[in-house]
Amino acid sequence: MTDYPYAGRFRSYERLPEEGRPRAEILAEVREMAAQEDAFWETGKASGTVYCGDHEHYDFMTETYGLFGHANVLQRDMFPSATKFEGEILAMTLDLMHGGAVTETDPGGLVTTGGTGSILHAMLAYRDAAARHRGIARPNIVKPETAHPAFDKAGHLFGIEVREAPADPRTTLVDVTAAAGLIDANTVAVIGSAGNYGYGTIDPIADLSELALIRGVGLHVDACLGGFVLPFGEELGLDIPPFDFRLPGVTSISADTHKYGYGLKGTSTLLFRDSALRNELYFFHTGWSGGKYLSPGIEGSRSGGLLAATWAGMVRLGRAGYRRYAEQIFGTARQMLEAVRSHPELRVMGEPTFLFSFTSDVFDIYHVYDFMSGRGWRFNGQQYPDAIHMAVTRPQTRPGVADAFAADLADAVRYAAERHEAGESPLSGAVYGGVPGGLTEEADDFIRQIMTGILDTQQSLPPAAR
Ligand SMILES: Cc1ncc(COP(=O)(O)O)c(C=O)c1O
Repeated sequence: MTDYPYAGRFRSYERLPEEGRPRAEILAEVREMAAQEDAFWETGKASGTVYCGDHEHYDFMTETYGLFGHANVLQRDMFPSATKFEGEILAMTLDLMHGGAVTETDPGGLVTTGGTGSILHAMLAYRDAAARHRGIARPNIVKPETAHPAFDKAGHLFGIEVREAPADPRTTLVDVTAAAGLIDANTVAVIGSAGNYGYGTIDPIADLSELALIRGVGLHVDACLGGFVLPFGEELGLDIPPFDFRLPGVTSISADTHKYGYGLKGTSTLLFRDSALRNELYFFHTGWSGGKYLSPGIEGSRSGGLLAATWAGMVRLGRAGYRRYAEQIFGTARQMLEAVRSHPELRVMGEPTFLFSFTSDVFDIYHVYDFMSGRGWRFNGQQYPDAIHMAVTRPQTRPGVADAFAADLADAVRYAAERHEAGESPLSGAVYGGVPGGLTEEADDFIRQIMTGILDTQQSLPPAAR
């Protein structure tokens, strides 16, 4: 894939055109790009990323978005519908997370821009509450190594030390004893994932809950991925351990409406056992010449369109819709896992349910990745150990996709064994793989340079147009 597939095909703009272009022409161009990009994930061969994949549902949500896309939800006197949408999105998600089990405090939440937004807000709330109530000036959080980098981003942005507890290499679950050993008087929160991005496995949240209560620290459960699929797995009778507010030590949960909530991209929920912790995020500037300013979190203006579309998507699907989708997703994941387990050369990491990862103790798993890429599959590559990650979403539940996965995987295993036998290195290893012997400072610098180049490119014109 080139970085600029549209260069030369459509005009690129290095400045605003003097005269605006006809809308039909613009729509034709944009439609062409969308159709080309949709065609790939519609094959069902891309891991994660597109969760619903149902254009009819997207069109419905886009229509509701269009009615409020111009609305600024900071101005509630003009757009009171935002209060209905936001309040109900939060109430429905709190209910899903058994907020009703909380009686000693008043649960509440915040709609944010995505999983990272929810995690950043949560960590900021813990930091500020700990400063206010416990006088903590040098806060730290304890996260499983497997927890999402958004926690590290929070540490970076908000001056919070991030302590990493190792995961058991066999189960991929956090070592709770090690986590306990990292907690000290400056710890503001412990983290657990339900499930984690890498392996889709659920940390022992009940144990973390007990630990958090004993040590008097917060417990944030990152259910950005699992929040809208695991509860329905539980209803379907799968062995999903409780990870939500039923556990008394859980003080906050992030659950993404824009992942398995099947919403348009751009929203997530952050839920608090006690809305007093949420209110740490409230910002006021009462003495500003522009007037008294207030906002609930980091953002200022937000779009009413996203709130309307998220709300509409949720109430349209209802519990039955989510349960039906979950049943298809768990079923497809089970079928794909069976295919992986049928090969003794492959090893599934931990005990996943809707998102799984596998490695090999026999050959370099990136040989498998190479072969599957050639057959049109797009997975996420992992490291330490090298592994292939597949998040099963609705596009994979389409007829024939799981069977194609099984057939292609069988060929890929044969290919990998041959390449291993021939002593060849995989093509994708350099990009996705780990660095043998661990990540040295030099290698890290080199990787950062490459990553800087990638990000620079993503915000730039094609070279010919610069
Ligand atoms: C477990 C988990 N937490 C947090 C995030 C971050 O979410 P976002 O990319 O929406 O910011 C992800 C993203 O995949 C995730 O899988």
